[in-house]
Amino acid sequence: MDKLIITGGARLDGELRISGAKNAALPILAATLLSHAPVRIGNVPHLHDITTTMELLGRMGVDLTVDEKMNIQVDSSTINSFVAPYELVRTMRASILVLGPLLARFGEAHVSLPGGCAIGSRPVDIHINGLIQMGADINLEGGFIHAKAKRLKGCRLVLEQITVTGTENLLMAAVLAEGTTIMENAAKEPEVTDLAHFLNKMGAKIIGIGTDGLTSEGVEKLGETTVHYDILPDRIETGTYLCAAAITGGRVKLKDTRPDLLDAVLAKLVEAGAEITTGEDWIELNMHGKRPKAVSIRTLPYPAFPTDMQAQFCAMNAIAEGVGVVTETVFENRFMHVNELQRMGAEIRLESNTAICTGVNKLTGAPVMATDLRASASLVIAALVAEGDTIVDRIYHIDRGYDHIEEKLSQLGATIRRVPK
Ligand code: UD1
Repeated sequence: MDKLIITGGARLDGELRISGAKNAALPILAATLLSHAPVRIGNVPHLHDITTTMELLGRMGVDLTVDEKMNIQVDSSTINSFVAPYELVRTMRASILVLGPLLARFGEAHVSLPGGCAIGSRPVDIHINGLIQMGADINLEGGFIHAKAKRLKGCRLVLEQITVTGTENLLMAAVLAEGTTIMENAAKEPEVTDLAHFLNKMGAKIIGIGTDGLTSEGVEKLGETTVHYDILPDRIETGTYLCAAAITGGRVKLKDTRPDLLDAVLAKLVEAGAEITTGEDWIELNMHGKRPKAVSIRTLPYPAFPTDMQAQFCAMNAIAEGVGVVTETVFENRFMHVNELQRMGAEIRLESNTAICTGVNKLTGAPVMATDLRASASLVIAALVAEGDTIVDRIYHIDRGYDHIEEKLSQLGATIRRVPK
């Protein structure tokens, strides 16, 4: 397994281009299954999760072509299998996103149950119950969700809990259902919004986009002509590089991003002492050499502070001035990074779903283990200021969600290299 070796101490300074959002690209690639004509998707990030999704679609017989700029053309007319196998779903839970589109368009889907996950049990009951309410016949057997439906029927769905991929799955099912589907307590993350805009571009009739009340009037067919759609920028990649610069007391200008998607994160960075300036598609952060101040955060669904930025703020709080209280309300067991940060000298106390971080004057490099995607990012961020070398193992987690992280950080002046196994 590849490792990253990071030598701490460099103050980051420079400019970067932000990639397309992983969490928008995944549902949008799944949604191409709904289109009759080939679809072209642009601004796709270069990530392992994207390769896994392409492999998943490819195994179903879908025809995919990729150019050197990561524009992906998808033609689902050649599909010959409706199975999402365990070995792919196991590595990427978001594979569950093919369930809704397969069922809506082809009347059949066999998707492996994702099973446990490092950041909590993460069930998919809301996805399944919603589809049953729309008339699907669902059996759970042999670790698989076997779903069948002649044509799904629109209905009123009140989601028991806000779920991002659950909302996306049900929305993709609803666009081809007979009649109107009204979804309440829907997730309104920007990635859900991006998917809804893409579905409308293919001919869906969704209103209420960007709110927690989505209404879809079902249509018979989607994608009569070839559609081209560019994925929105990755707000979590953006936030991660802002934290990376902030922890080093540095400066960074991020281009091809959207500051309006990061209000809660930018507010916390300002509270931490950062000077932030923004334009329509760029953000600049400047710490003017100062050490960050500890900030308290509470993760919640969008537009509040995102759970996917929690670990990076724990890393920043670890060397900040003062005490920051970090409360995780979206996932159980999402503090795997805390143990590793402690091994680097952080003073963090865990009390159920709260991490109380008392900033220390210095962290020291150590061998650490990446446990999930965002936890890994927090270790890399901490390593940037740690004294000496930090070796981050199991970085396949990072490659799932960060496009060329070592190149981008090197571009900002970090000392980081990848060591192949
Ligand atoms: C998505 C994101 C992930 C992000 C998360 C929360 C993708 C591919 N991943 O994950 O990066 O951290 O949103 O913003 O977009 N739940 C249930 N039953 C369900 C579904 C969810 O109880 O059927 C619970 C989960 O256990 C969790 C909460 O709902 O506690 C939110 O999870 P959810 O929004 O579904 O996360 P994902 O869509 O898996």
